[in-house]
Amino acid sequence: MNKFVMNRMPKVYFGEGALKDALTQECQHYGENVLVAYGGGSIKKNGIFDEVVRLLQEQKKNIYEFNGIMSNPTYAKVQEGAKLVKEKKIDFILAVGGGSVIDCCKVISAQAKTRDDLWTMEFDEKRFPSQFIPMGAVVTASGTGSEMNNGAVITNEEVKIKGGMLGALADFSVLDPTYTLTVPMAQVISGAFDTFSHAMETYFGQPAQNNVSDEINESIMRNTIRNMREVVQNPQDVKPRSELMWDSAMAENGILKLGKVTDFQAHQIEHQLGAYTNCNHGQGLAVIHPVLYRHIYKNGIEKFARYAREVWGIHDTKLSLEETAQKGIEALAAFIQEMGLPTTFTQMGITDKEMLRKVADSSNITAGCCKKLTHDEIYDILLECL
Ligand code: NZQ
Ligand code: ZN
Repeated sequence: MNKFVMNRMPKVYFGEGALKDALTQECQHYGENVLVAYGGGSIKKNGIFDEVVRLLQEQKKNIYEFNGIMSNPTYAKVQEGAKLVKEKKIDFILAVGGGSVIDCCKVISAQAKTRDDLWTMEFDEKRFPSQFIPMGAVVTASGTGSEMNNGAVITNEEVKIKGGMLGALADFSVLDPTYTLTVPMAQVISGAFDTFSHAMETYFGQPAQNNVSDEINESIMRNTIRNMREVVQNPQDVKPRSELMWDSAMAENGILKLGKVTDFQAHQIEHQLGAYTNCNHGQGLAVIHPVLYRHIYKNGIEKFARYAREVWGIHDTKLSLEETAQKGIEALAAFIQEMGLPTTFTQMGITDKEMLRKVADSSNITAGCCKKLTHDEIYDILLECL
């Protein structure tokens, strides 16, 4: 294990009915003006919005709405939200949605506290916000684990960068798995694959040798695989959804990352693909992961073989270490297909090679895994994804 500092996490209210417990216990800590922020309107159709409003009214709050937060939220939307927060003198932001809504609110919360442009501050000046409008997160679609940390992924359309920003950490997060029953199955699966990707990108970081974080991680990966299969079989069963919701939180609450340098190379590539195509995050990752791993596994054969054994149950003693490693990557690819996730960019409507060159050239390169890529190698990987 490397040296680490363990940070605080949001207080978590988990399970059916958690929203009522959370709002009745937490609202007293904040002023009267509450901004309820959400996306394209799913929460108005499934009743979550009405429940939020009723509970906030019981707490005598003045409610303001901020809606239309899109998937892959833009920096322009952050500015719109921050302006509203300042104008209405908002005391508390309640983000109600998936990763996109929660991410957007984290950065709104920071931008509303400064006159400086947060993008310039973070990306050019490497200064990070320290003051925030307090916020809470109500998860309606799980997968990103955004509710557990202070990272946000924001698309700046002007500069064509989908970049990681630091924003507020929610004071508390509400994880009620019944809220996810109305999420379309394709999103349930792409969200869960995002969780799986977070676990893998952490597992294949350094150190690669045995450590407790990786052993916990193997359990999370196995649990995610099992419950993705179950949720497809039993879409109305809350149980697999509740497991996936906690897998998602566990993958991003920092526990699996303790003592490790994470990789997140697949994410860096996918984020730039998102900046150019606005594609679904989990689907982009599903196409990239097997191709990326076929490119790099030879530099980390032992870890990839361990992944094959511990996550995919490949225990054939006749296989060499390298063959075992390959079988693990092929098991991942087969699972992606089994789950109905896309296996090529073409299936996602992405075919423009010139655009992929720009994606490759603008992708951050990480050094967390077993091989540090070049921009040309990333381009080769992207071409293989077509
Ligand atoms: O906008 P509405 O109408 O609410 O519909 C949403 C959206 O269309 C829908 N939805 C959410 N809850 C629902 C529901 N539909 C029916 N019933 C419900 N209960 O689901 C769709 C997708 O929502 P979105 O929030 O975009 O998805 P997700 O949670 O996958 O978030 C994706 C964003 O998070 C970023 C991604 O890059 C992407 O921008 N990520 C954030 C991370 C973080 N902060 O830690 C880590 C991740 O790696 C990721 O990059
Ligand atoms: Zn992700």
